[in-house]
Amino acid sequence: MPVIENSRLAVIGAGAVGTSLAYAALIRGSAREVALYDIDARRAEAEVLDLAHGTPFTGSSRITGGGDLNAVEGANMVVITAGAKQHPGQSRLDLAATNVGILRELMPELVARAPEAVFMLVTNPCDVLAVAAQRFSDLDPARVFSSGTVLDSSRLRWRLAERVGVAASSVHAMIVGEHGDSEFPLWSQSRIGPIPVREWVGDDGERLTVEELDAIADEVKNAAYTVIAGKGATNYAIGLSGARIVEAVLRDERAILPVSSVLDGYHGVSGVALSVPSVVDAGGVSRVIDTPFSAEEERSLHASADAVRRSLEALEL
Ligand code: 2OP
Repeated sequence: MPVIENSRLAVIGAGAVGTSLAYAALIRGSAREVALYDIDARRAEAEVLDLAHGTPFTGSSRITGGGDLNAVEGANMVVITAGAKQHPGQSRLDLAATNVGILRELMPELVARAPEAVFMLVTNPCDVLAVAAQRFSDLDPARVFSSGTVLDSSRLRWRLAERVGVAASSVHAMIVGEHGDSEFPLWSQSRIGPIPVREWVGDDGERLTVEELDAIADEVKNAAYTVIAGKGATNYAIGLSGARIVEAVLRDERAILPVSSVLDGYHGVSGVALSVPSVVDAGGVSRVIDTPFSAEEERSLHASADAVRRSLEALEL
């Protein structure tokens, strides 16, 4: 798959997440053109204008769009952020019925306008919506995935980096499974520099205890609830995470990221989308990597699969 030179990214939904993602993509130069769409034309046009006014200070990217869905035409990648958002006290899975309803109408319209695009779901519950989007579009499952636990993994890397005093880029750790309450860290495969996390020795000569690692994993799992309680939404970190994934696709990077795609026999899991280490390139998820899991991680993966499956069954897709 060739690298896309004149890349076009369409972002569906001009709420806090969609606009933060568009903003991050413009600043990072993730795509040559970012087209932002929202059903609320007035809002979308205002957001596009506001972003456009800043583009003299970004790279060579441009921003277009508004309330006309034809803005999506010719997109190489479509990122869906539209839908109801979590309110304090709600879980991501609580949003399923509303957001699946929106997607049922949206997906055929998007595919008609960008038939060659790679589609990424950011709207929650993103694992459930990745399955729904694939069914509503009948596209190759590789081309329909969700941002999954890329954000949670970023939260984990930041938190561990702060704790041990190294750069986050030197923390190689992933949260996998559901992007939600059953997610879990893949500690057995996590490293700080070249050192397995559980063997890392700090300046004080002490190792990270199991209790401390569990507490960090809990903090990461509850991070969205903490931010939502304080400001009503999460937007910046998901915007940056989304822009990073966009780059992996539009630059045909073959980057290994924990995005969520419909699994087929992965550690015995099929038919549900979960985040696992995946190769992301211009074709979408070109490969899920058969990663060794400990017995406990294996159980956690199945618990995540059950949570997503229960939600899918309740929706009767
Ligand atoms: C997040 O994790 C709410 O899924 C969103 O920030």
